[in-house]
Amino acid sequence: MNVLKVAICGGGRTGHLNAVLFKQLPDVQVSLLTRNAQVVEQHLRRTPIQALMPDGSTLSAQLDRVTTDAKAAVEDADIVIITVPAHARPQTLQSIAAHLSTDKPVYIGAIPGFCGFDWLAEAALAQRPNLVIWGMKDVPHTAFDLKPGRSIRMGGGKSQLYVATHARESQASRQQLGELLSRLYGPCVTLLDNYLEITLTPGNPIMHSSVIYGLIGPYGQWHRKIFPQPLCWWTECPELGAYFLERMDEESQRLCAVISERLGVDLSSVKSLKQEIVDAYGEQIRDRSSMLSILRTNQAYNDILAPMVPADNNRAGYVIERQSRAFNEDVAYGLVLLVEMARRFELKVPYIEEVLQWSVAYMQGLRDSALDYFPRHWPHAA
Ligand SMILES: NC(=O)c1ccc[n+]([C@@H]2O[C@H](COP(=O)([O-])OP(=O)(O)OC[C@H]3O[C@@H](n4cnc5c(N)ncnc54)[C@H](OP(=O)(O)O)[C@@H]3O)[C@@H](O)[C@H]2O)c1
Repeated sequence: MNVLKVAICGGGRTGHLNAVLFKQLPDVQVSLLTRNAQVVEQHLRRTPIQALMPDGSTLSAQLDRVTTDAKAAVEDADIVIITVPAHARPQTLQSIAAHLSTDKPVYIGAIPGFCGFDWLAEAALAQRPNLVIWGMKDVPHTAFDLKPGRSIRMGGGKSQLYVATHARESQASRQQLGELLSRLYGPCVTLLDNYLEITLTPGNPIMHSSVIYGLIGPYGQWHRKIFPQPLCWWTECPELGAYFLERMDEESQRLCAVISERLGVDLSSVKSLKQEIVDAYGEQIRDRSSMLSILRTNQAYNDILAPMVPADNNRAGYVIERQSRAFNEDVAYGLVLLVEMARRFELKVPYIEEVLQWSVAYMQGLRDSALDYFPRHWPHAA
């Protein structure tokens, strides 16, 4: 079997876990691009990285290369996997683009592939026909409790992994990608027909923003107040947040239906958020009667803290962090994209817009967003 050279960009939780899992496979070389000198230092000391598995066992791996140098990380890669959050992807792509091989196919993808990674990669990697752009709908497993360069804890895994390619990719490239990803993840990889199936699948962008709006937005019980202690995202989700989430989920489904009809594409694989959560977590949800009860009684969501920081000016307590990923990633790269897609189809999404406008004000304006790469003429060809 040919050696498969994998480059993982981003030394966070997802990056560490995937790197260790890949190194359990025969003939797979893994290089990791990180900005974290600590991770490089541990590698140079030959410290293995451990993945602590849900059944209590431990997997261990010595990666082939761990580096802060983009060229060294990706120059010979067959497949590149970007695991940085959506708002950091433009910079990552910029740093690696010039160093990717030009004389063999290189499969460059994002995990997770939401926030229109296909459009970003198309813009950042123009005129590079040997690059095959892909994204995975979700992370294959949750990953938490990272000790950089040392260990990562693996949570629940998905039974099916859905992958899509940019519309420009040929059938042969898609098939080759399917084979590569099956080698890395096993037979659970399914290729979707259209990247929009990933982009329109509801997830964190509507989940995080609606809950924050329900807590501290203009009608929330914590509006302009300080939380006495950190709060759990889901087990302590407010009724108002669940209400907005359900409304935003409905609008997102409507957008999907309109796009499907007008563009004549089959998006029937895109389910409502409620259905996505029930399908993903099944028996772990004690009460499936409403969005609120699903969020509050999903055991997999227990103990996940909302992004909070100590209040300023020596005040006791906590506030929702303005610089958190719930804003920088989910609002700027997720909600913004949904609203712009709806606008292009003249579809009204008032709940999503209300939450977006408030969120942008709370984060004190957008510095960058998915609009930086969303094709200007979409859904029409340029
Ligand atoms: N962890 C999970 O279970 C989980 C579950 C669902 C979805 N996700 C999604 O998976 C993606 C990666 O999540 P993660 O949990 O692996 O994140 P993470 O642990 O925070 O790792 C992200 C890594 O990206 C790199 N990075 C580069 N620029 C960054 C920036 N501006 N801000 C933050 N990180 C930056 C950093 O690595 P270097 O220091 O090496 O550059 C960082 O460690 C996100 O889109 C997240 O929403 C994760």
